This record gives sequence, C-alpha cells and structure tokens, in this order.
Amino acid sequence: MLELIERRGPDLVALSGDLTQRAKPAQFRQARQFVDRIPVPVLAVPGNHDVPLYRVWERLARPLGAYRANFSPDLEPVHRQPDLLAIGVNTAHGLTFTGGWWRARRLREIGELLAEAPAAAYKIVVAHHHLVPPRRFDLQSVSRNAHAAIELFSSAGVDLVLSGHHHQSYIGSSEEYYPRGRHPVVLAHSGTTTSSRGRASETGANSCNWIELAADRFVVENLRWTPALDRFTVASRHLYPRATLEPGGLDNP
Ligand SMILES: [Fe+2]
Repeated sequence: MLELIERRGPDLVALSGDLTQRAKPAQFRQARQFVDRIPVPVLAVPGNHDVPLYRVWERLARPLGAYRANFSPDLEPVHRQPDLLAIGVNTAHGLTFTGGWWRARRLREIGELLAEAPAAAYKIVVAHHHLVPPRRFDLQSVSRNAHAAIELFSSAGVDLVLSGHHHQSYIGSSEEYYPRGRHPVVLAHSGTTTSSRGRASETGANSCNWIELAADRFVVENLRWTPALDRFTVASRHLYPRATLEPGGLDNP
C-alpha cells in the first residue's frame, strides 16, 4: 500500500475505518505509526472495530476514547482543496455494535458544508458503514439513517461515498439500489487493504479502490493484491460521467 501511494502520489488517501481489531491503545498507536508513513494527506474515520466490543463500560461511556487518545482527536475530519471537498463521517457508535448510524446532526452539518462548496468541486463523503447492501448479501440490513443520507447526498450533488465495512469490494450507483431518477451518487465500498479478513470472493485477499477525478468524468479502479506479481493489479474499472446539478435541482447526467 505504501509503495502504491509513493508510486502514484494521490492528492488524498481515504481510510474508511476499522483501523484496529480490538480498539486497544497499542493497536491505535501501531495504526498511527503506519499512517504517519503515508507521504500525502490522509483522511481517516473510525469503524466498529475501533469501538471496544468487550470493554462494555468503555464502549458506552467513551466508545472512541482510545481512538482519540492514540490515533486522532478528530473523528470526522474534512479535507479541502480547490477542486475537492472530502467529508469524514463517524458512523461507529457505542450502542450500535457492528451496525452503523448516520446521525441526523452530522447529516445537517454535511448539508451546510456541501452548500458552501464550489459547484465545480468534487464532493466526497468517507464513512465506515454501508449505505446499500453488498451484492450477494441482499438480506443484510443497511446502516441506520441510510435513506436520509442518500436523500441528502443526492440532492446536494455528492459525487462519491467511500466506505469499507464488509471486507469485500462493491462499486455502483445509488440509483441501482434506490431508483428514483435522481442525481446518482457513486458508492465505492472497499475490501480490506491490510488485514487477512477478506470475505466472499475476497476471502484471504487484499484490495483497495483507486479513484481518478477529471472535470467531466471519474474512474474507480478496484485494485486487488496479486501475490504472484507482488503488487496491486486492476480487478475492475468503472467509468462514470460527472453528473452536475442544474439550478432548480434538475439532474443533468
Ligand atoms: Fe467494520
């Protein structure tokens, strides 16, 4: 992963949560040391594994205390550059266990951040939990308030939502799951990049998503670690036209 980042030099690395296995201070310090080696800006958010599962009192009283103390005090960072606004969202909370929760207060804040952003800037949301069920897991529930989040992101012109709870990759448009003829939001769920906990078709595999943004289109590449070549290779490539919101809220894909 470090070699890939150094070779390709992205503007931003987004880490969509589960930085540790059991939310232990030493595990967070290890994660911090790793992230400090990344030579470009990093936007990281917590996942459910970053909340203690068995330390029940800590889980309820200060579920992300160890994250704040040992990894980052900022649970919901925001990255701004002239052509890009990336907004972190903490969807991992002490009471929701493995499921995620898009809290109404954060959705309101995101709405305000998006309204202030330049129209031409790419708008990306980074969270741990999923807004749609992964393919082949159709009966699995989505995170709490997922529908409200999709409504907001679609109406506010969000281009991409990055997440990574399911240990397997899937990339698609919100309109495939919630077809209402609205502004499509591309949902790019990452597999596990650094752990051995890949699932389904990614059992034992490591993957990540590489995203290239251009003025009128963007590409999401799903990269899969290929041991025989000792590097990531492209497993699939997804090209999307940039959908811009016209005044009055009409979509113009
Ligand atoms: Fe997770």
